[in-house]
Amino acid sequence: MNKLHWAFIMDGNGRWAKLHGFPRKSGHVEGVKTVEKVVDFCLNCGEVGVVSLYVFSTENWDRPAAEVKGLLSLAEKYVSRVKTFLEKDVRVVFSSSYDKLPVNLVKSMRECEEKTKNCKKMVLNLCFNYGGREEILHTAKVLAEKGELKDADEEVFLKNMYNDLPCPDLILRTGGQMRLSNFLLFQSAYTELFFSDTLWPDLTEDELNGVLDAFKHRVRNFGKII
Ligand code: IPE
Ligand code: IPE
Ligand code: MG
Repeated sequence: MNKLHWAFIMDGNGRWAKLHGFPRKSGHVEGVKTVEKVVDFCLNCGEVGVVSLYVFSTENWDRPAAEVKGLLSLAEKYVSRVKTFLEKDVRVVFSSSYDKLPVNLVKSMRECEEKTKNCKKMVLNLCFNYGGREEILHTAKVLAEKGELKDADEEVFLKNMYNDLPCPDLILRTGGQMRLSNFLLFQSAYTELFFSDTLWPDLTEDELNGVLDAFKHRVRNFGKII
């Protein structure tokens, strides 16, 4: 069986911080620890080939400048840990619109992608400055420029998206909201959706195990009678 593509909408850092009487930034710092936990869980369970993380949306620029700055610096710190990715044999790719991102961050992102490109155990797709609608528009423009849009079918379209990755099998959103918030709109057509009230920093291995188990009990029809 093919390994799974598990995507995460990491929501609830701000509320976690508020609940504990900390500034929002502490929630994001704590959230990075959950990222590490999730990556290790997926590596160790042996059933996941691709992990996608929704790190920062194209709409998150509308947050206060100080929070945006904090998120950008946390991201830069995280992608600079190339050694850790190499040790874990994790290939890092980005689903990103690079336009608005600071030059230094883009440099670190490209470096991380380049240095981990031969890693084989798992792909970590970081959706940073990502918007599903923007990705669809971007892909249409790429195909139009190549003169291939007119004849493009769904397969060709998917191949030309930010990364040539399989569609997600499951998406887990923490933080209690039941929406996609512009995440993987084209790719999620037949994705199994899971919503949890747990705030992202509180996500545990037990809950991850539970979601994986529940996923295995979902019947995926893809429109057919089976
Ligand atoms: C993290 O959670 C998601 C990001 C945009 C980084 P939030 O910052 O949205 O946390 P809540 O929803 O305010 O609790
Ligand atoms: C979704 O969370 C975006 C990320 C997790 C990066 P938001 O907190 O931005 O989503 P909304 O505003 O509740 O829809
Ligand atoms: Mg939120």
